[in-house]
Amino acid sequence: MPGGDMAGFNTESVLSVHHWTDNLFSFKTTRDPGFRFKNGHFIMIGLEVEGRPLMRAYSIASPNHEETLEFFSIKVPDGPLTSRLQNIQAGDQIMISRKPTGTLVLDHLIPGRNLYLLSTGTGLAPFISIIQDPETYEQYDKVIVTHGCRHVRELAYEQLITEDLPNHEYLGELVRDKLIYYPTVTREPFRNEGRLTDLMTSGKLFEDIGLPKFDLEQDRFMLCGSPSMLKDCCEILDAQSFKEARHGDQGHYVIERAFVEK
Ligand code: A2P
Repeated sequence: MPGGDMAGFNTESVLSVHHWTDNLFSFKTTRDPGFRFKNGHFIMIGLEVEGRPLMRAYSIASPNHEETLEFFSIKVPDGPLTSRLQNIQAGDQIMISRKPTGTLVLDHLIPGRNLYLLSTGTGLAPFISIIQDPETYEQYDKVIVTHGCRHVRELAYEQLITEDLPNHEYLGELVRDKLIYYPTVTREPFRNEGRLTDLMTSGKLFEDIGLPKFDLEQDRFMLCGSPSMLKDCCEILDAQSFKEARHGDQGHYVIERAFVEK
């Protein structure tokens, strides 16, 4: 039964698990009908280990209009949670906190024209939620979802972005008109190669997608990746006079660390 109660957590059931590669997987769970969140939010999820909750922060990859929840995870061989979580199967129980939170939400940005969703690795997860939110397309003319990975096989959700969403019954037309997918790979040949930071600095990213380079009036950014990716991206944006949203004030960009177990 979804909605079981244990110290601030709901107990949900795993509905399905998809292994993308040896070190990446996604899974869907039931959702308590009373559980509300904003697209882009993260939440503590975990397993009961030796009678205690073992919890880590995960971005919710599914949009808030769906009846189920989805998460995108790395597998860390000796990670306390992911070494166990990677073995979950349909029917297993998982604990989900009732307090979603986070900075990657549309309200935190000053209105603009182009929304850049810059991610590396599992940092893509919150953007999978955001690109399925009709509000995103109401607020922006172009929504650019980037995904930087080492290898082509790590470009998870490519099919959702390039095939399923453009053909979606309700979102399809908006997605076809507004969503631009820009995957890039750093350690093998691919149509887009190199780090997102280098592609932004050189201007190649903007050339490739046919949009102007860094426009303070028009461009807004959400960033999710490793600490070093965030640091480097912030330096680039700060040098162009973009301001981070802070302390409840709207800004030109927002950042969140992709949650990875050490
Ligand atoms: P690279 O292969 O050059 O390290 P990771 O798996 O280490 O999190 O990396 C995921 C992707 O993010 C890789 O393509 C990696 O490129 C890239 N990356 C790592 N650090 C940065 C950074 N500081 N800025 C931009 N991209 C980065």
